[in-house]
Amino acid sequence: MDDRLARLLDDLYEEGRAHDGPLADRLLRLRNMTPDAARLIALLIRVQRATSVLEIGTSNGYSAIWFSDAVRDTGGLLTTVEIDEDRVAAALGNLARAGVRDHADVVHGDGADVLAKTPDASVDLVVLDAERPAYAEYWPQLRRVLKPYGVVAVDNAVSHREQVVAFRGLLAGDPAFDVGLHELGDGVLTGIRVR
Ligand SMILES: C[S@@+](CC[C@H](N)C(=O)[O-])C[C@H]1O[C@@H](n2cnc3c(N)ncnc32)[C@H](O)[C@@H]1O
Repeated sequence: MDDRLARLLDDLYEEGRAHDGPLADRLLRLRNMTPDAARLIALLIRVQRATSVLEIGTSNGYSAIWFSDAVRDTGGLLTTVEIDEDRVAAALGNLARAGVRDHADVVHGDGADVLAKTPDASVDLVVLDAERPAYAEYWPQLRRVLKPYGVVAVDNAVSHREQVVAFRGLLAGDPAFDVGLHELGDGVLTGIRVR
């Protein structure tokens, strides 16, 4: 990552924290993932040479910039889904500002609908960063769309451990997946399809 992009990400993250600080209503906050979590997932994209990455929960595009920069290196595309129209517009602006707009498809919609329309075994890596209680319902479709050796990465797996317990149980109970919990940032749960 070049210095200009690293500075832009630092500025955007600080802007997000300043925006969220005074807001009591969780849903009004931008809730950008921590830089450590975004860096880990961007690393996975590069190591995996992932060309098809799906993020559910774009917010203003902070993490989408990290992932678009990674898929620029792999020759792939990030699809990122956001339910709030104003946030879609903000994300598009931020991705353009970061110079990675051509590497991301920002979809205005519900992550569950996008998953349902995604072809079988077509996605290398899925990032879940939306409403955590919904993740368990995503599981059958999410499992269907992942390629062999595909990865699912879930943010806030330590900070909101109880809200991802059902999803974690599904993942851990599936013999096709190897599961890990990475205690950085707010905690990133990963599952890789090993068989
Ligand atoms: C934690 S924020 C995402 C932060 C973003 N990944 C980042 O790091 O910058 C969660 C976002 O998910 C969106 N969201 C909630 N439910 C959704 C759904 N069912 N489908 C798509 N987006 C959803 C919210 O509007 C919110 O902007």
